[in-house]
Amino acid sequence: MLIDIIAGARPNFIKIAPITHAIMAKQNEGVPIEFRLVHTGQHYDKKMSHDFFEQLNIPTPHYNLEAGSGTQAEQTGKIMVGYEKLLMERPCDLCIVVGDVTSTMACSIAAKKVNNIKVAHVEGGIRSGDWTMPEEINRIVTDAITDYFFTTSETANANLRKTGVADDRIFFVGNTMIDTLFKQLPRLTKPPIWDSAALKDKEYLVLTLHRPANVDDKDKLEALLGQIIESANGMAIVFPVHPRTAKMLSSLNLDLSTIHLAEPMPYLEFNYLVQHAKAVVTDSGGITEETTVMRVPCMTLRDNTERPETCTVGTNELLGTNPDAIAPAFKKLFAGEWKKGAIPEMWDGKTAERIVNQIIQLFNIK
Ligand code: UD1
Repeated sequence: MLIDIIAGARPNFIKIAPITHAIMAKQNEGVPIEFRLVHTGQHYDKKMSHDFFEQLNIPTPHYNLEAGSGTQAEQTGKIMVGYEKLLMERPCDLCIVVGDVTSTMACSIAAKKVNNIKVAHVEGGIRSGDWTMPEEINRIVTDAITDYFFTTSETANANLRKTGVADDRIFFVGNTMIDTLFKQLPRLTKPPIWDSAALKDKEYLVLTLHRPANVDDKDKLEALLGQIIESANGMAIVFPVHPRTAKMLSSLNLDLSTIHLAEPMPYLEFNYLVQHAKAVVTDSGGITEETTVMRVPCMTLRDNTERPETCTVGTNELLGTNPDAIAPAFKKLFAGEWKKGAIPEMWDGKTAERIVNQIIQLFNIK
């Protein structure tokens, strides 16, 4: 039994780490499963990729497709061509894709088209309903050709059933991103910026922005950042800047002197900052899951979310992308009125183990 595990971009690395560990644990028990870790090269900077492999103890990828950056189609094309070549040399029995990045979609298509290879989608079934997001297209296309869905929520299960997926292909297992978080919580590390910016527990905010809708338009980014700075009312803001955002940031007509700008941070340092923050302001999806589990207030600058349980159960609130919503939310935060939240069902740190056990059963591996 040969399994390919696909990883392309930063959030993928966090999601695949526990899956590789769970497979290796089975190998040690003598279960005949082999895996190839395929890095597509979508993220290639040390800070966006290598640091995550090192900190999360992910095995060195067996292959790197070195797709690099490009337009949506260029990136999709390069990843498909690279992965197809690998599959033609030696096909696998199961291709595991995670999350919603371009690598997820590209590799699922290549696997299906080469030899109708079975595809398992970890984090399948979630939907934002927003077709302007490249991730939503990636989710829809991937799920249309996925054989086995490993899901994070009942909402995802319901979304899949609505599209006609039979129950025997849906496995509600929880969240591998949270497996990684639980495992790493005891190892979280103070980043250098803690001292250099004189940060104090619960007396600063963490900001992340990287969605094309927020950061590719100069006026939009300027309006959002301006409002965040004003509403923070002097509270320190730490902003680790994604490469996409960095490109735009230097052209803004805005006084950023009250913001502590930083390069993208390694996992252990970033999550230390989140854990000790007063609140997080973000347009990420994954971070809203981590803040939910760490019970840190989270404001999401998006009009929709594919992770509604972070709002209904967790600490997340959708503010939308209109800057006017920011001030009232900060008022509520500073008044101590933010919800405490709870941890969603099955987000217990054992998801990867459930996935691998399920695969062993599905493929009758002995
Ligand atoms: C991708 C994912 C997004 C995920 C995010 C996490 C898609 C469609 N989007 O967005 O869902 O939340 O990763 O970070 O897959 N760049 C670098 N160094 C790198 C990687 C990228 O400088 O290592 C620059 C490139 O110039 C590129 C830009 O960042 O143009 C964006 O990278 P890309 O992989 O296209 O998408 P992300 O915005 O990172």
